[in-house]
Amino acid sequence: MKTTTAFFSFLTSSLVSLALVLALALVLALAPTTATTKFQFQNTLSSSPLATLFVTLFAISLNYWLVPGGFAWRNYHHRQHDNEKPNAKLTGPMGWPILGTLPLMGSLAHAKLAALAASLNAKRLMALSLGPTPVVISSHPETARQILFGSSFSDRPIKESARALMFERAIGFAPSGTYWRHLRRIAAFHMFSPRRIQGLESLRQRVADVMVKSAWKEMEEKGVVDIRGVLQEGSLCNILESVFGSNDKGQELGDMVKEGYELIAKFNLEDYFPLKFLDFHGVKRRCHTLAAKVVSAVGQIVEERKRDGSFVGKNDFLSTLLSLPKEERLGDSDMVAILWEMVFRGTDTVAILLEWVMARMVLHQDVQKKAREEINTCIGRRSHVRDSDIANLPYLQAIVKEVLRMHPPGPLLSWARLAVHDVHVDKVLVPVGTTAMVNMWAISHDPSIWEDPWAFKPERFLKEDVSIMGSDLRLAPFGAGRRVCPGRALGLATAHLWLAELLRHFTWLPAQHVDLSESLRLSMEMKTPLRCVVVRR
Ligand code: HEM
Repeated sequence: MKTTTAFFSFLTSSLVSLALVLALALVLALAPTTATTKFQFQNTLSSSPLATLFVTLFAISLNYWLVPGGFAWRNYHHRQHDNEKPNAKLTGPMGWPILGTLPLMGSLAHAKLAALAASLNAKRLMALSLGPTPVVISSHPETARQILFGSSFSDRPIKESARALMFERAIGFAPSGTYWRHLRRIAAFHMFSPRRIQGLESLRQRVADVMVKSAWKEMEEKGVVDIRGVLQEGSLCNILESVFGSNDKGQELGDMVKEGYELIAKFNLEDYFPLKFLDFHGVKRRCHTLAAKVVSAVGQIVEERKRDGSFVGKNDFLSTLLSLPKEERLGDSDMVAILWEMVFRGTDTVAILLEWVMARMVLHQDVQKKAREEINTCIGRRSHVRDSDIANLPYLQAIVKEVLRMHPPGPLLSWARLAVHDVHVDKVLVPVGTTAMVNMWAISHDPSIWEDPWAFKPERFLKEDVSIMGSDLRLAPFGAGRRVCPGRALGLATAHLWLAELLRHFTWLPAQHVDLSESLRLSMEMKTPLRCVVVRR
């Protein structure tokens, strides 16, 4: 059923119920209170056709939304009584009238949904309603595999803000099809290929030097290092240089990324209900203004590069896009969309991951010391860590894996998937149009999968080599299947190299209590920015 129809029937039934509840409450409030009169009143109620009608309608209406999974699943349950083949049992919270389970989708949604799935014995698959939108959530590696690898969940539901910010024309939200495949192929070849990642090694080293200098400068000037700012600046500079070959518009684009991030992370009623004509928080207006700025700023860079024709033989992503053979070349607006997406995705993910890593380093001095010893043994007195050194730093890699397990930047795999047709997950029929999410945070904290899941123990990955690239669904922080993160190898190469450099140059100590509280916005960040003290080595 279309969202609009579902919404209006939902609204009608909810309003009817609400009116009935109010009416009943009013009648009862006005009712006499002495025992005898109360008895007489109840007699009247039971003999009154109006009261009977109230109660009956109320019960029907409750029956309409009080189904496992909530209102959005009512037809699903009604189908059990039709002639159609009955579906396997679906479990899930009924949620609130109208809102369904939306009130849980705040900054700790991953943890609340994990607890709910465990309490309802619905880790394999839990159904819920986000407003009138039917949703299934997997908190189990087997059903996660079925969702992420199956071709049935190859699209993503798109938020209005993401659409307004042009992400529908970029890889992340483009519907799976010829255009999306074309974009992925171009990006795989010209942005994320092993040869290209290797070619960007000196850039990563240069940015690491800048970050080390900034950290030391902050330490000298303020006596404390606000590491979030240092990492964000480094990440932005790194991605801008690899995408455009220069960092000229760093400040301007950095501000745009920040604002875009804030807008996409905002909760919007319009994304769940057909209220597109409304703009409660001015998000739509701000998105359109921002999109115009992005088109102008990025468009100008593209135009300038085209005008001076200086792109032949260059290694940055824009230059390679402009050098593509005519039949493969993207239109100007599509080029702006994909360049903007790379800058947008490439800036926050690595910085957020590294802030979590540094928090753990500050908290677990023994782990930090062991990692530094490994690095010193491997690198010696060389001026820089190289990408090729990382293979010889298994403990450093284990630290990053353990942080990705405990604090995955995309705990619900950031962007959900959408069922493009009816499909069975675990013998449960999931209807077309259902949003599917994988709660990777729940899986990576599940004591039946991970021994002592709340303890920070990088050593676990020395004992068992678990791939984090999407083949082992016990730990897939970059997602899996056809829409797996295409930037994972680049993200990891960057995180490993920078971590090694940061640990090599300084001993990192806490400047204050390290608060590990999480805040899920677009990615899962540290709620309180990390502040450290550094001691030079
Ligand atoms: C620590 C680093 C990163 C993490 C944890 C991460 C995580 C993710 C996750 C969980 C997804 C969804 C996958 C799925 O649905 O199965 C994703 C998708 C994506 N990521 Fe990343 N990512 C990281 C770095 C990057 C970087 C550096 C870039 C680009 C510069 C990037 C670009 C993308 C794009 C374009 C998609 C959408 C893919 C599609 O829909 O086809 N990511 N990422």
